[in-house]
Formats: sequence, structure tokens, C-alpha cells
Amino acid sequence: MNLVDKTNKKFALTTPLYYVNDVPHVGSAYTTMAADVVARFHRLLGDEVLLITGTDEHGQKIQRSAESLGKAPQEFCDEIVPSFISLWQLLNIQYDRFSRTTAPRHAIIVAEFFQRLWESGDIYLGQQKGWYCVSCEEFKEERELLEGHRCPIHTNKEVEWRDEQNYFFRLSKYQIQLEELYKSQPDFIQPESRRNEVLSFISQGLQDFSISRVNLDWGFPVPVDPQHTLYVWFDALLAYVTALLEPDAEATLANAIKTWWPINLHLIGKDILRFHAISWPAMLFSAGLPLPERLFVHGFLTKDGQKMGKSQGNTLDPIRLVESYGSDAVRYYFLKEIEFGRDGDFNEVRFINVLNADLANDLGNLLNRTLNMVKKYCADDGLTITKEGINNENPLKVIGLGLGDKVKQAYQTLAFNQACEATLMLVRTSNKFIDEQAPWSLYKQGKQQEVETVLYAVLESVRLAAYLLSPVIPNISNAIYQQLGFGIDFNDQINTAMLAPFATHAQWGILSSEQSLGKPQPVFKRIEIPKND
Ligand code: MSP
Repeated sequence: MNLVDKTNKKFALTTPLYYVNDVPHVGSAYTTMAADVVARFHRLLGDEVLLITGTDEHGQKIQRSAESLGKAPQEFCDEIVPSFISLWQLLNIQYDRFSRTTAPRHAIIVAEFFQRLWESGDIYLGQQKGWYCVSCEEFKEERELLEGHRCPIHTNKEVEWRDEQNYFFRLSKYQIQLEELYKSQPDFIQPESRRNEVLSFISQGLQDFSISRVNLDWGFPVPVDPQHTLYVWFDALLAYVTALLEPDAEATLANAIKTWWPINLHLIGKDILRFHAISWPAMLFSAGLPLPERLFVHGFLTKDGQKMGKSQGNTLDPIRLVESYGSDAVRYYFLKEIEFGRDGDFNEVRFINVLNADLANDLGNLLNRTLNMVKKYCADDGLTITKEGINNENPLKVIGLGLGDKVKQAYQTLAFNQACEATLMLVRTSNKFIDEQAPWSLYKQGKQQEVETVLYAVLESVRLAAYLLSPVIPNISNAIYQQLGFGIDFNDQINTAMLAPFATHAQWGILSSEQSLGKPQPVFKRIEIPKND
């Protein structure tokens, strides 16, 4: 019997499930924006998409955060979760499932999964000794630690010594299977630098890891020994599976994996690589389940070149950013300015400069002045020309014809910056083209056909740019499409996939003479650099 029944047109992807020890930070926003862009892109291709996000609510870190405020952990989590949901709304994230690890149905899936591993003989009781970082919720090797037993990631936190009985998962048993996986599926971990990191780590030999804790209440009890609480990472990874359950389906593993498993893409940050690239596939091997298709690992964000953190006093509040500049601006900056997979920096002046240059000037002004020229120079405020009237040497047509495929490939490889750059190239060339062709002079010379040729080529290029950028800046793309006379709403993905599928709208030459062009209105207002006084 086929356990999973997934078609090629289905695409499931995940963000990490965020810890609720605090309100969301810009790192969580970063992965979620990227995931939303991938999801929107796949919907344009006509795929059925399931975007999963959610929260990771168990473990010592959350328990301590709750205690420090004198709250019960569940009450504390329930208070924090809405701040994630409202940030995703502000950022225009279209997720399909929000998976909370404290959901009762998740407990059932975890118990069933545990049972499978237990029956495979992969869980045993042992003694755990080692240094534990509560912020990472992870044991660290002595050699990884900084001076004064500090965590290499949470550099201001000391790790804690543990010597206790725990249940272990037999990770070492899967050494060879994992090596074979990375070899036979070289794209399983991307980018390559991260794959190499994993290869080098496992070449030292894998050790079993503990999957239970004692002296901790906040979590699910170990099914075979309720004195123990399941390790937070064991339950968290499984919430990707629980998320696949249809809302009204009975919580069974078989139901969960029926339609959407295996997941096509896990997006994660570099600090949680080992859990996803090593522990997770091994757990799935043990449970006899197919593996996810691919992991993509992004870098860390800094602010003004400095590591961000509360103790450093330089956190970047994503809510303030969106409230000040709007969702498209924030999405655009992080996806266009930072190569996905590498570390990147946020600097507010650069942020403003990029938005003004690309969105207000290059894209917005171009549309505005071109539409105004149509009003001024063309009869009935419309163009009579169509793509057939544009010769093949036209520089915008030359770029435009190959752009859809190029951008498609960039999105598929998660090279968001390249997708934006390639599109902006067309926009910049259009600005140059209109300046060089000077339709205002052509008009004075009575060359009506040529005026319209120039204006058509430019407007069509702006349209194509809006379409290709719509996964990143859907609201601006909407405004552009509306002014060009299309009744398309890029936030209504189902209709967009039908009315403006990628196969046609990512081509150059869609604009037609029947198009009734709208009133020119700025699509992105220039931002003034705040004065520091
Ligand atoms: N709860 C785990 C994930 C479990 S997934 C089954 C977790 N949560 S987290 O909230 O601490 O981190 C979530 C994500 O934010 C991680 O991918 C992490 O890499 C990312 N980031 C945390 N700080 C970041 C930056 N400064 N920059 C970019 N991403 C960062 O880990």
C-alpha cells in the first residue's frame, strides 16, 4: 500500500517553529518572509501549496521565561502566540497552517511516532552527562564552548552541567544511511557550504542523543515512562507532521502523511542545521517514513554590522519596521539586499536608500511618467500598438523575452536577490531607453507610431517586472497591474493562478491595445531619511 499519495503539483514547505520565549524578532520574520515568497511563487506556477509555520512551546527555556513572569507556561504561551500571528498578518504572509506544539492533536502524533521508534529498538535508557545550553536547548561539546563555559551562539549565557538518566535515540545506528543520503541526494542540504559542514560533522562519528529530560514538567511525558518529559526538539520536529493533518481529520500518523508528505522544503537558519540535517532524517528512517526533499539554510542577520541581541541593546523590532515602512518595503529589502544562504546586515539608512532607488525611483517613477505620457500623447488615453509592432531588436524586448525563465530559475533555487536584480535590470534599462528615445521629441516631430512603440515597450516591461516581483512585493505589483488596467489581485492567489498564470504573464508582450489604462498614481512613496537631532 502506498503510504503517501502526493502529486507533483503539491508543494509543502515550512518555516522553523518559533520559540515563544519572547515576541517575534526580525530573524523569525526573515525566514517567514522568504517562505511566503516561495509559496507565492509556487502558487503562480499553479501548484497547490501548503505553507506551514507555527510555534515551539515546550522545554526549559519557555518554562523559565514563564516562571520569571510568574505565569503558568501555557498561559504564557497563549499570550505570546498572537504576537506571531499578528506580525504575519502585518507582513502579508499567507500561511496555510499554524502548528502549535502544545496542541492536543500534536500529543497524539508524538506518542504514535515515539512508539514506532521504540518498536524499532532505537530508544534506550542511559546516563547523560554534559554541558547544556538552555537557550539552544542543546547539549554542547566541551570543545565548542567559549571561555567561561559560554555557549558559542548565546555568548552571554553560561552552559549548565547535567548528569542524569535520560532516554536516548540511537542516532549512531544511522551513520551509514545518512552518509548515503547526502551522497545520493547532493541537493538535500543547501547551500553547499552547509552540506559540507554536515559532512564534516558526521565524519567525526555520530553519537546517540538524549530525547528525554528529568526535573522538567513542561512538555509531553515519555509514553513508556511518564517520570520523564520528552526533549523539546523531539516534539518540535514532529509538529511539521502534525501540521499536515486536515483540520477535522482524526490525529493519526497515517492521516497526517496521507496528502502532503513528504515536505518539499524546510527553510531554517544556520543554528538549527544539525537538528534538521542529521537528527530529523534519522528519526524518519527509524519510523520508516520517506524523507523531506530539501533543506535550505539561511544566514544570520546583523544590525549595523553588530550581532543583534537584547543584551547588546540593538534588537530590530520587525513590527516597528512594518508599521513605519509597510510590508512590501520590508520584504523587498531583506530579500533583495541579502543573498539567501549568507549572513546579511540591516542598516536603516541603506534600507531607505535601496527602497527609494529601486521602488520609488526606478520602478514607481517609470510607471508614473510613462502613463502620464500616454495620457498626453495618445488618443483616448490608450495605446494602439501591440507586441507585434515591436521589432526584435528592441532592447527591452530582448531582455524581456528571456527574463521569465531566468527569474523562475532564481526563485526555484531561492536566489531571491537574483530574481529581484534581474528584474530591476529590465526596469533600469527601461528608464535609460525612455530617456534616450525621448518620446516627447518624437511627438513634436509628429512620429506618433514611434512614440507609441516606445511607450508600449516601457509599460510592458513595467508590467512584466510587477508580475515577476509579485511574490516579493504583492501590494506594489497590485497597484501597477491596476494602473495598467488588469483586474488582478496578487493577494488572491487562487484567482491569480487562473487569470494570470506564470506560463503567460511571465512572458514579455501581454499588454494589449484593449487595455484601458488607469490613472497614474505613485505606487511607492519616497521615504525621507529621519534626521537625528
Ligand atoms: N524552536 C526552534 C526551531 C524548531 S523547528 C522544528 C528555534 N526557534 S527560534 O525561534 O529560536 O529560531 C527560529 C529561527 O530564527 C531559526 O531558524 C534561527 O536560525 C532564526 N534566527 C534567530 N536569530 C536570527 C538572526 N539574527 N538572523 C536570522 N535568523 C535568525 O530555533
